[in-house]
Amino acid sequence: MASAGKVITCKAAVAWEPNQPMVIEDIEVAPPQANEVRIKIVASAVCHTDLYHLFEGMHEDGFPAVLGHEAAGVIESVGSGVTEFQPGDKVIPLFIAQCRECRFCKNPNSNQCEKGWAADRYDVMSTEDSRFTCKGKKVLQFMGTSTFSQYTVMNQMCVAKIDPAAPLDKVCLLGCGVCTGFGAAVNTAKVEPGSTCAVFGLGAVGLAAVMGCKFAGAKRIFAVDTNPDKFEKAKVFGATDFLNPKDHAKPVSAVLAELTGGGVDYALECVGNVGVMRSALESCVKGWGVSVLVGWTDMHDVAARPIQLIAGRTWKGSLFGGFKSKDGVPEMVKAYLDKKVKLDEFITHTMTLAQVNDAVDLMKKGKCIRTVLSVSPQ
Ligand SMILES: NC(=O)c1ccc[n+]([C@@H]2O[C@H](COP(=O)([O-])OP(=O)(O)OC[C@H]3O[C@@H](n4cnc5c(N)ncnc54)[C@H](O)[C@@H]3O)[C@@H](O)[C@H]2O)c1
Ligand SMILES: [Zn+2]
Ligand SMILES: [Zn+2]
Repeated sequence: MASAGKVITCKAAVAWEPNQPMVIEDIEVAPPQANEVRIKIVASAVCHTDLYHLFEGMHEDGFPAVLGHEAAGVIESVGSGVTEFQPGDKVIPLFIAQCRECRFCKNPNSNQCEKGWAADRYDVMSTEDSRFTCKGKKVLQFMGTSTFSQYTVMNQMCVAKIDPAAPLDKVCLLGCGVCTGFGAAVNTAKVEPGSTCAVFGLGAVGLAAVMGCKFAGAKRIFAVDTNPDKFEKAKVFGATDFLNPKDHAKPVSAVLAELTGGGVDYALECVGNVGVMRSALESCVKGWGVSVLVGWTDMHDVAARPIQLIAGRTWKGSLFGGFKSKDGVPEMVKAYLDKKVKLDEFITHTMTLAQVNDAVDLMKKGKCIRTVLSVSPQ
């Protein structure tokens, strides 16, 4: 490629400061260093975690940054020492690494690789290092990925090579939301056939959790959301019952207890609200109920009465659905190509990178499931 080894100037949506719209700018993207690859981002969806960083977490040290972490693209060039990737390979950027060497990678039960931003900078959500500059300033790479940019540079341990047959404008969803929700049900909760589940929050993450519960053989799946517009989609992914907490005077956990003879077997929180996290735990049956925290928040403590756990409930959390990222994502791409999991049904809108703020507004207003942005022409 003619661009290999050179700085690329391209379009990116820069979040200069918290709580302000992103600005489309020309940014400079440095060539990949040792063990790094430069990726042309073809498609990127917007996930609530992008909104969280911009409008909810608002950690001042996390700006300026290029957001975006749910994407797919093509390798443009590779740095020294990279043998796994070649220009032209289709890839999905990974917001958690899989180095295959650390103690977490070697443990089959964890995906918490100790490399990358997620190891120690949860608050700022990026490493100090970046390959981006704009107007003479360093711009941070949010979640290490920064997919609201036509090009990005990542370490090869944070990139998954995928089937060349995969449509990038669909499989981008496997970069975060769909793997997260599906895996939270299948890998973390380990939903069993014949069980009863409840999923709180029906964005892409929650709908993917519904899909995971159904895939695992759950017989009854309660879909819980304060926005009743989401129920129709939840049915498409396998929900059997629908609950709007606002329709009931009692807490939703009490409603679920009545409907299920004491509570559900599994309850997944896909909102990012500590009150809902507690309510999901309390919706589980004593004795064996499992509740999984999936929603993202770092601003408040979670609370529960000890008796909830003493009585035999289990409280777990799930990052990226428990998938070891480099191994899991290509498998999920294959599952989509084999029609074992749905992706197209999550996509309610398509836009261009220049419309990224409109896509964010849609999500803020609860009017979309996923908007896929076309970032670079293919
Ligand atoms: N753990 C992870 O690895 C991981 C990965 C991706 C996203 N997330 C987090 O998952 C959450 C969901 O992401 P998304 O992209 O699907 O978001 P989204 O905004 O599309 O969906 C959230 C849904 O929750 C509903 N909701 C809000 N308040 C509620 C309440 N009190 N009770 C029930 N439902 C309520 C909303 O109406 C909406 O449908 C976010 O917190 C996001 O940051 C976590
Ligand atoms: Zn996400
Ligand atoms: Zn590792």
